[in-house]
Amino acid sequence: MSGGKARSSPASGDGGATTDRRAARHDAASELAAEPGEPIWQYAPAPESRDVVSIEPEYGLFVAGRFAPAADGRTFATINPATEEPLAQVAAAGQADVDAAVTAARTAYEQVWQPMPGSERAKYLYRIARQLQERAREFAVLESLDNGKPIKESRDVDIPLAAAHFFYYAGWADKLEHAGFGPDPRPLGVAGQVIPWNFPLLMAAWKLAPALAAGNTCVLKPAETTPLTALLLAQVCQEAGLPPGVVNVLTGAGDTGAALVSHPGVNKVAFTGSTEVGKEIARAVAGTDKKLTLELGGKAANIVFDDAPVEQAIEGIVNGIFFNQGHVCCAGSRLLVQESVADIVVERLQRRLATLRLGDPLDKNTDIGAINSRQQLDKINELTRVGEAEGAERWSPPCQLPEKGYWFAPTVFTGVSQSHRIAREEIFGPVLSVLTFRTPDEAVVKANNTPYGLSAGIWTDKGSRILWLAQKLRAGVVWANTYNRFDPASPFGGYQESGYGREGGRHGLAAYLHV
Ligand code: NAI
Ligand code: MG
Repeated sequence: MSGGKARSSPASGDGGATTDRRAARHDAASELAAEPGEPIWQYAPAPESRDVVSIEPEYGLFVAGRFAPAADGRTFATINPATEEPLAQVAAAGQADVDAAVTAARTAYEQVWQPMPGSERAKYLYRIARQLQERAREFAVLESLDNGKPIKESRDVDIPLAAAHFFYYAGWADKLEHAGFGPDPRPLGVAGQVIPWNFPLLMAAWKLAPALAAGNTCVLKPAETTPLTALLLAQVCQEAGLPPGVVNVLTGAGDTGAALVSHPGVNKVAFTGSTEVGKEIARAVAGTDKKLTLELGGKAANIVFDDAPVEQAIEGIVNGIFFNQGHVCCAGSRLLVQESVADIVVERLQRRLATLRLGDPLDKNTDIGAINSRQQLDKINELTRVGEAEGAERWSPPCQLPEKGYWFAPTVFTGVSQSHRIAREEIFGPVLSVLTFRTPDEAVVKANNTPYGLSAGIWTDKGSRILWLAQKLRAGVVWANTYNRFDPASPFGGYQESGYGREGGRHGLAAYLHV
């Protein structure tokens, strides 16, 4: 692993360049090739510059258009999980700060944002979108520093998609009466939004853009391990001239989130995170007239049939579970592979995994970055130990983990049965559980044998089978011959314990309107 057989990773988009470099570097080392024709050589370091961001030593809360410390002065540290280096101290919002933010959002809602014509609201959203594009590199580096994800993912996925969400919903702001919710759909009021750490800026965009387009004002609580890009986004809102109080950002941990969602001044609660906290929030909101959307965990089946183009499927499997270190709610964490091709798929997958590069998230050639927190690493370690104890066979490529920081080698479990905990519970790490099936019907039954229902993948050459299977799978999103594709126009959300409500597309507006 990271020994560097030349292969471009699925998200790198530099297949041509890789081939050139391979040719250029084809030297004496090729005599050591593991396989004929495959040179062994090292990539030179290709670090993205840290200098494009300036991180303040301390950050305040963003309330009523200004940054200020928490009322009681409490702070917490956010660190770089790749090095454990502290990045900044961040204000920890308490009840008084939640009160102040909700009041600011209410005032802005009543006096400015709700009365404003949609065409005017759109201008602010377009401005924020353009700022995200112009400052994309800065946002990408900051995201990778605070979160641990590879720069090529923050650069090519997180930041462009966040901008795309603002552009998309800016386009709806003056067309709400044509969205299919009646001639004059009304906003809900103040939205309390709590987001996780796996896609910090992107989740902020998913929450803020539709809420603002629909005429609501927002109090956003980013996750405690990844507050920095939300605070930079707050600065962008300020510079875009967004009226004070329309967007407020409260940093803090679970207690801040709990105070926000149970605040009586909040009309709408939107949450993305663990199923456990989602259930707590559903209880906190029960009996109030707050509207609630929950986007929770998943345990998606990625189903590979014997007629699937194998190399393409391998890339899809890798992208499905190793993208973002597997910290993805819709990750393809259960590989269901047809028995007749199981051996060859697993063998080729292992070969492919040996070429993935784990290490410095700011290196442009890195495929697998750091695990986001000690706590998440502990959870992954615990569940993989359980996997072994329950009798599944564990495999990882040879892989050197950096000494500091939180790291986990890509891991594949074979011989997994449906009752194993690694087949049932969300691991939220770079760990794949492989199960097999014989017939399409068996694939359906196994895929649906989960308390979740967020996403699924199908790999087959047969169009009719894709359509048949997509109807049978109880999953909010079904990808066919691709995986982990996102688009602001496409609704996203789950069944069962994966939550309820949809984000994205026209459906995403409904969550922020009286419909
Ligand atoms: P979490 O659900 O505790 O955290 C998500 C957000 O909720 C954070 O902003 C957190 O501060 C906030 N929060 C925590 N307790 C709260 C409460 N009582 N009321 C309101 N807000 C609260 O998730 P955590 O602990 O970071 O991760 C645990 C597991 O959850 C992961 O291992 C993974 O399986 C799952 N998860 C799923 C995510 C998804 O995208 N569906 C995202 C993050 C975690
Ligand atoms: Mg951090």
